[in-house]
Amino acid sequence: MAFVNSTDIKPFEKKIWLSSPTMHGPELTYMQEAYETNWMSTVGQNINEVEEQIADYTGVKYAVALSAGTASLHLATKLAGEKLYGQARPNEGTLKEKKVFCSDVTFDASINPVAYEDGEAVFIDTEYDTWNMDPAALEKAFEIYPDVKLVVLAHLYGTPGKMSELRSVCERHGALIVEDAAESLGAKYLLNEKWVETGALGDYGCISFNGNKIITGSSGGMFLTDSKDDADKVRKWSTQSRENAPWYEHEEVGYNYRMSNVIAGVVRGQLPYLKEHIEQKRAIYERYKEGFKDLPVKMNPYDAEKSVPNFWLSCMIIDEDAMCRQVRDDRKPLYIPESGKSCPTEILETLAKYNAEGRPIWKPMHMQPIYRSHAFVTAQGNGRGQSNAYIDRGKATDVGADIFERGLCLPSDNKMMPEEQDIVIEIVRRCFG
Ligand SMILES: Cc1ncc(COP(=O)(O)O)c(C=O)c1O
Repeated sequence: MAFVNSTDIKPFEKKIWLSSPTMHGPELTYMQEAYETNWMSTVGQNINEVEEQIADYTGVKYAVALSAGTASLHLATKLAGEKLYGQARPNEGTLKEKKVFCSDVTFDASINPVAYEDGEAVFIDTEYDTWNMDPAALEKAFEIYPDVKLVVLAHLYGTPGKMSELRSVCERHGALIVEDAAESLGAKYLLNEKWVETGALGDYGCISFNGNKIITGSSGGMFLTDSKDDADKVRKWSTQSRENAPWYEHEEVGYNYRMSNVIAGVVRGQLPYLKEHIEQKRAIYERYKEGFKDLPVKMNPYDAEKSVPNFWLSCMIIDEDAMCRQVRDDRKPLYIPESGKSCPTEILETLAKYNAEGRPIWKPMHMQPIYRSHAFVTAQGNGRGQSNAYIDRGKATDVGADIFERGLCLPSDNKMMPEEQDIVIEIVRRCFG
């Protein structure tokens, strides 16, 4: 059965958020400084400072401040396309008629830039150890599509993927990596016995300062690279591709993607608190883990030897045999309550009743209506058209769909008090009653 609607738990008076901005004070000082010095523009000291500090923190040589993580992913993807296939005509993308291997369980902003550049995303299945791109499925994809030269991969919920394996598959096939570290700023991975920050593990790195991220500018993003030429190119494209001439002279298509100096002020004020935010998020993750230890669920996993996540979102996955029946169409879910069992829909609806915000796992890209006609590759090979009306193939092998079915994101706001989290834990526990 599920949740007994007990009166001993009252809805939270103040909503418990999934992940909301946490301001500290210096943000306002730097924004005000921009105002008072009149650098109310896409030029100014805050921008210079955050570029320098982020490059320093992540260990890359150059960081370019942009209006959003999506802008960074777009320009990184365009740049990779230009490197691989040459400059495109102004009305065409750099990936025209090219396939690109992409993370499947991620936010669509990771991979939409492939479409902006006229490319075709091929989705690569997920592994259970970190919930990121499966190196075995990636290897399989290169067997099926040996001409592919670009991989766009994300680190889901702040947990680094298996970068040693993914990088070596890419190296073997001469492919470039666009690394989407939008959710994982501050997470590290042990590469060749050296700790490397996410965002510095691929050929081009992208981070986000969206309002829900580990630190925020309210919006904003950054492009990371070790190449001065690449940094200069992205800076040029992001400011309308102006040439060095007294008038507006253009050789290339441009974008208005530069970060504002006001937004950069917020990021600058937040940066000293990145470590503190990570510690708070880690404590939330550990408290859930402890609170759920006798429930038929597991927390989102990570490789404790080779990675340190930033614990941006705490998530859980329900054991198969503890799942009550649940169906989802393209817009709405439905479930049948069952004693001793639960499902993401029941837990999320119950949390919402108590004024706490969770969220379903990001729906895999290969299941999204917009990308249903795109190829999808699992560790077994082609992931499309594998069902059969005449043969029962048993358990499905699509890991992304399984994590989406059984998993959910828990309230992970770093302002949530331990006492409040204990109530969230109790609400989830009672769903299995
Ligand atoms: C994995 C991932 N990639 C890209 C983005 C896009 O970043 P932004 O919102 O800054 O454009 C987000 C989140 O917003 C994200 O979670």
